[in-house]
Amino acid sequence: MMPIRSLCCFALLLVLVPLQAREVPAPPRQSAIASANGYATDAGLEVLARGGNAFDAAVAVSATLGLVEPESSGLGGGGLMLLHLADDAREVFIDARERAPLAATRDMYLDADGKMRPRSSIDGPLAAAIPGLPAGLVHLSEKYGRVPLSVSLAPAIRLARDGWVMNEKTAGMLPWRRELLARSPGAKALFFRGGEPVAAGQRLKNSDYARTLERLVREGRDGFYAGPLARRLVEGVRKAGGIWSVEDLSRYRVVEREPLRIEHRGYRIVTAPPPSSGGIALAQMFNVLSGYDYPAMASVERTHLIVEAMRRAYRDRAEFLGDPDFVDVPVARMLSPDYAAGLRAMIHPARATPSELLPPIGQLPAKPDTTHFSVIDTDGNLIAVTQTVNLTFGNAFAVPGTGFVLNNEMDDFSAAPGVPNAFGLIGDVANEIAPGKRPLSSMTPSFLIGGDRIAAIGTPGGSRIITMVLLGLMDLIDGGSAQAAADRPRFHHQYLPDTVLAEPGTFTDDEMKALEAMGHHVRVADSTWGNMQVVLWNRQSGEVEAGSDGRWKSVGKGALGAPAAIYR
Ligand code: DON
Repeated sequence: MMPIRSLCCFALLLVLVPLQAREVPAPPRQSAIASANGYATDAGLEVLARGGNAFDAAVAVSATLGLVEPESSGLGGGGLMLLHLADDAREVFIDARERAPLAATRDMYLDADGKMRPRSSIDGPLAAAIPGLPAGLVHLSEKYGRVPLSVSLAPAIRLARDGWVMNEKTAGMLPWRRELLARSPGAKALFFRGGEPVAAGQRLKNSDYARTLERLVREGRDGFYAGPLARRLVEGVRKAGGIWSVEDLSRYRVVEREPLRIEHRGYRIVTAPPPSSGGIALAQMFNVLSGYDYPAMASVERTHLIVEAMRRAYRDRAEFLGDPDFVDVPVARMLSPDYAAGLRAMIHPARATPSELLPPIGQLPAKPDTTHFSVIDTDGNLIAVTQTVNLTFGNAFAVPGTGFVLNNEMDDFSAAPGVPNAFGLIGDVANEIAPGKRPLSSMTPSFLIGGDRIAAIGTPGGSRIITMVLLGLMDLIDGGSAQAAADRPRFHHQYLPDTVLAEPGTFTDDEMKALEAMGHHVRVADSTWGNMQVVLWNRQSGEVEAGSDGRWKSVGKGALGAPAAIYR
């Protein structure tokens, strides 16, 4: 006879097995990649086909974007990466954000009267922080990849040597920085032919970029942060008036940080911790909204509450957020449900809370000059990466022979309390400049996990990134497809200026009138914003989706890889 304990175990097994069976997810039938450029998506698919995992594919996508979408991101900039490791079911956040040079000072962009020197944190070598992306790619490949950099960087190296066709997005952005790019011999060599900016449809090559990548293949991070390339970068930057040192490069390190987790309506959102402001702002907005039955509300009422949540999160961003290695960010307080309840208590159900009036958004519109991509492989590994050189073509300066422009990420610091940056964002001491400090970012690579869906999502768009990710996540929670989340109309409020900015067509005339009657100042923007890239895996069916923002349809690309072996 079966002993009583075994009987119990057997009974327990009978109960558990069907439950577990139901919980075992259907692996992704295919891989999926969504990125802002077709060449980059194809590079990622190629590396997956050569045995790479999602993280190897991400290296390929990232390095290719740096080549073919240089207005947005590249080796001269930085990035934030969120990984889901299928084998041990955990998430990792890689902070490859740029750092202020060691010679940076708090008031470096102010004149003798304490006034901001116009454009000093935006144009030229003084605007450049120390790049983090090359170190990020090497770290990602060495620690999480399955194939060596010689495989994952091969597509970008080949494209740089053989050439690619300049698209309308990049060509359309060149005039914005034409004058400054033309003044930098290194940048001029990259983007001008016969004295004119390269036009859409022209074929380009960049053998310097190929050589820079080959250094990473041969020497790992030292290929960029030590030796001849590091010396060339430092000399080039200093000669043109910058303050970089060899030590700046040799001391640069990526940091692995604990991702931020938010629970909302039965879903888990895994997202970017400081030095991104994105995760904390998302958590605050979701926490505030969780006190309302907003899905059941009429659209105007719901929009009002979302705007009020946005306003409060961006107010706190300005006051509290900065590099956690330098300032104490009151994360626990900002994430506490009680704090959200306090914020909620001050929201009038039918009236806008006026923000103070401050100078309007700076003269540089938020062009999508950062980039995001999302990848899922057939093992269920996921990665969401937002990478940037900050504004269009970064600081519009390239050291000759390197193949890439440098960033102007120093503008993401608060140059002086209350002085808005290019995105109209203000800040205080938490985000003031200090040697080696990372500027506060809005980049918000995120995952949504719950029910039968797992998604990776993110977008460029400066200060508007966080509200775009909020709206995209809400759509996904409501069951929207990856494509629908990427395409949905957007609105944004960032505390100051006290304006609800809406993409054309987001609100009907009646909705606009109703919001105005509540005291909101609604402004319809001249153009759309963002460039969202989403991948989605349905864990019940194993189906995957890739959604690439329709606003740049002809340039971006969402694509699925070959069916996984188990389905063949
Ligand atoms: O890290 C940040 O928040 C900014 N450097 C991102 C810039 C950006 O998205 C530009 N695109 N509009």
